[in-house]
Amino acid sequence: GYTVKQRKPVTGSYQGYGVKSMPPPSSGGVLLVQMLGVLEGFDLKGHGYDSAWTVHRMAESMKRAYAMRAKGLGDPDHHTVDNADYMGAKVIKRLKSEVAASKRATPSAKIGQVVVRPEERTDTSHFGVLMANGDAVGCTQTINLLYGSGRMAGKTGVVLNNEMDDFSALPGAPNAFGLVGDVANAVAPGKRPLSSMTPTILLKDGRAVGVFGTPGGSTIITTTLQSILNVVTHGMDVSAAIGAPRVHHQWYPESLLIEEDALSPDTRAILRGLGHTFKPREPYGNAMALWRLEDGTLTGAADPRGEGTAGGVGDVPQDGLTGATP
Ligand code: DON
Repeated sequence: GYTVKQRKPVTGSYQGYGVKSMPPPSSGGVLLVQMLGVLEGFDLKGHGYDSAWTVHRMAESMKRAYAMRAKGLGDPDHHTVDNADYMGAKVIKRLKSEVAASKRATPSAKIGQVVVRPEERTDTSHFGVLMANGDAVGCTQTINLLYGSGRMAGKTGVVLNNEMDDFSALPGAPNAFGLVGDVANAVAPGKRPLSSMTPTILLKDGRAVGVFGTPGGSTIITTTLQSILNVVTHGMDVSAAIGAPRVHHQWYPESLLIEEDALSPDTRAILRGLGHTFKPREPYGNAMALWRLEDGTLTGAADPRGEGTAGGVGDVPQDGLTGATP
């Protein structure tokens, strides 16, 4: 149903020049004419193009323009937009006096409130269940990267994956997670790509005592490894085990990837002395761990880096479910 629309440009003026620019549904023209109008009132030339005086006034004018864009602008065929509200003499006069009065940077929140939505991560998802009766589930699901293949199965709402990048496209060529592969993982009809997903259940005397897992592409395996080591070997409770800074090595790149807080300066120095090199990494992964203590208490923790949570329902043992929920 798309048709080309011809629209009238927005018009304004600046220091003796006529200005014609793109009208809504671009916000460009109205904001540009507004900011030029506001800044025309200040001696920018006298203060220099990159002086603090000039940049302060530009910034004050810009943030007001973009706040107005956010609140009011949209496709004029669907939403009434009066360009004069954005670039008319009245609004320019008001903004000019606000900018002139701003002795310091105006906090954005003072210009207008915005609903800040919690960021939804694009990760693969992992969840686990550990039950008093010994049943356990470890489940990781992946569509690989953002929106998978961008296709939905019919009207189900189920987004189809795009796992082709989990194949080795060419021996030695890294994929999106920097993983290299060889012919064993080459693309072929009917073949499933190599995954790093590691949903894991730990058993003691045949009974499930722990559930571990995380998203994180190539780092999934080493994150799960460290979660288990932290609980089983280092005796950490599940919250500490999941929260602890992580290190990761995947052969190539050759460096040890380390989260910012990982390893003390002396540990780093000793490792450097052993020939290790480091590559700092933003916090990664969104791990979870469930662990049955010897007295039967079920404990659970979700990653403070992520948006998960741990909780207990139903027939929880007497001592209840302990552990952190971020
Ligand atoms: O199966 C795999 O190894 C990848 N498709 C996982 C991708 C992933 O974890 C992305 N999100 N963090």
